[in-house]
Amino acid sequence: MFQAKPIPAPSDDKRWRIVNATMRRHGYRASGLIETLHTMQEAFGFLDVAGLRYVARALRVPLSQVYGVATFYNLFKLKPAGEHTCTVCLGTACYIKGAPAILNSLQEALGIKPDQTTPDKKVSLMVARCVGACGLAPVVVLDEEAHGRLSPEQVVEKVLAWRVAMPEEC
Ligand code: FES
Repeated sequence: MFQAKPIPAPSDDKRWRIVNATMRRHGYRASGLIETLHTMQEAFGFLDVAGLRYVARALRVPLSQVYGVATFYNLFKLKPAGEHTCTVCLGTACYIKGAPAILNSLQEALGIKPDQTTPDKKVSLMVARCVGACGLAPVVVLDEEAHGRLSPEQVVEKVLAWRVAMPEEC
């Protein structure tokens, strides 16, 4: 059976390995599209344009079809509205090591729940299931960067720093 060679992922983010494993399990066939998007959302918390484009190429499916599936099903979320994204991993290892306390602190500090964006559009709060860095549990991904073993207070401090308005230069 013909099997396409994997194409390079959009970045060296470890979460792409999880997405790739799903595509490989399906032999990089188009029939694996929905499960691949599902894996991508579980890993990243949402589906962004670069990721959709990558999946389309890897599975040799027209991008329009990938968009069609991503927007048709309510369970898929496209890139959140916030300028920054804070994704808390709630996979087993992170859950055991204190991820719920981090999520609670963030919800309290930001006044939003997962899948929501602060009214100033600065921060979107997301959750994911295993981002592929269990050894660093509990893991929080701030924009593209995974941070491990931070306390709830440290995570809140980093996220609130995004909300400090910079004075505009004249
Ligand atoms: S469970 Fe959180 S990184 Fe694997």
